[in-house]
Amino acid sequence: MRIGTLEIATPVLLAPMAAVTDLPFRTIVEEFGVGLTITEFLSADAIIHGDSKTTDKMTASLNGRKFGVQIFGRTDEAMILAAQMAVRIGASLVDINMGCPAKRVVAGACGSALMREPELAQHLVRIVDEAIGPDVFVTVKHRAGWDSSELNAAEFACALVEAGAKMITVHGRTRAQGFTGNSSNEVIRQVREQVPSDVPVVGNGDVTDVESFLRMREETGCDAVMIGRGALGNPWLFRSIKAVSEGKEDPGAPTLEERYDVFKRHISHIIALKPGPKLLHEVRKASAWYAKGHRGCNALRQKVWKTDSPEAVMQVVSDYFEELIGQEHAA
Ligand SMILES: Cc1cc2nc3c(=O)[nH]c(=O)nc-3n(C[C@H](O)[C@H](O)[C@H](O)COP(=O)(O)O)c2cc1C
Repeated sequence: MRIGTLEIATPVLLAPMAAVTDLPFRTIVEEFGVGLTITEFLSADAIIHGDSKTTDKMTASLNGRKFGVQIFGRTDEAMILAAQMAVRIGASLVDINMGCPAKRVVAGACGSALMREPELAQHLVRIVDEAIGPDVFVTVKHRAGWDSSELNAAEFACALVEAGAKMITVHGRTRAQGFTGNSSNEVIRQVREQVPSDVPVVGNGDVTDVESFLRMREETGCDAVMIGRGALGNPWLFRSIKAVSEGKEDPGAPTLEERYDVFKRHISHIIALKPGPKLLHEVRKASAWYAKGHRGCNALRQKVWKTDSPEAVMQVVSDYFEELIGQEHAA
């Protein structure tokens, strides 16, 4: 897939997720072969006001890997400044969020609210496109529409492309649905059908395994798939999709030893890349992902939340995995 002149080797992207797709997690997912990662959405207004909590989240991927930055807002000055900051840290694309359903975002007429203002949405694409120059690409992520009576995804996407968007990502739910009900592959199919074929359309929503990845590609004709919740604690999904996309055999789920190793690697990335007052919280959160679905994971989660240091979390989770691995070998 190509976004402008940017080549994406594997047709799967990590979805931007607030408080989740930080640099440690993006790094883990990149190690497993994802096509591209994008930062969580960052408020252009907060950036323009120099809010360090927001600017600290605008991080370049390690080792020169390509990445995108996602921003949201609705005023020229803030959007231009935020987009230029993304270019300065080396982003290959600036994605504008036009899909967020959260009340505080929509109350500011940003995120999915922009689907009801297609002319302003086009204007934002144009000014960001101009601000970032020819070597960085403006892209948009949006929803199926505002609600079931305003399903304007295809028309909206075409307007954005006309304004200069070089990739469209569609989450097949409406704003009104939030995260309930199902994501519609039919909406994504319509967007793919109507957007000019040289602009990639990425399908998003409810892909959690190789089967749902293949189904979305087949049912929608999308150029790539974006995965969010299905990637939490499961970076191996990207390894599987990469293999299958290259016509190789799916290596399948990880062994417990692999899971344990990646947990340790993830925690050491958090300690190295995200030090600060929230370190313990971050370490606890990531720990819970890796044990999910395994025997005793609830009890482990409770123990983890009672720890008082990252080292203690490491110890508790290490004991857990070593016991599980021991039991598996004994069986
Ligand atoms: C915790 C969380 C945070 C999210 N934050 C963002 C965000 O910052 N920007 C964005 O475009 N979408 C965000 N989303 C939406 C996801 O990118 C994605 O569109 C949605 O989860 C559907 O995909 P999935 O079924 O693969 O999770 C978020 C979703 C979750 C669950």
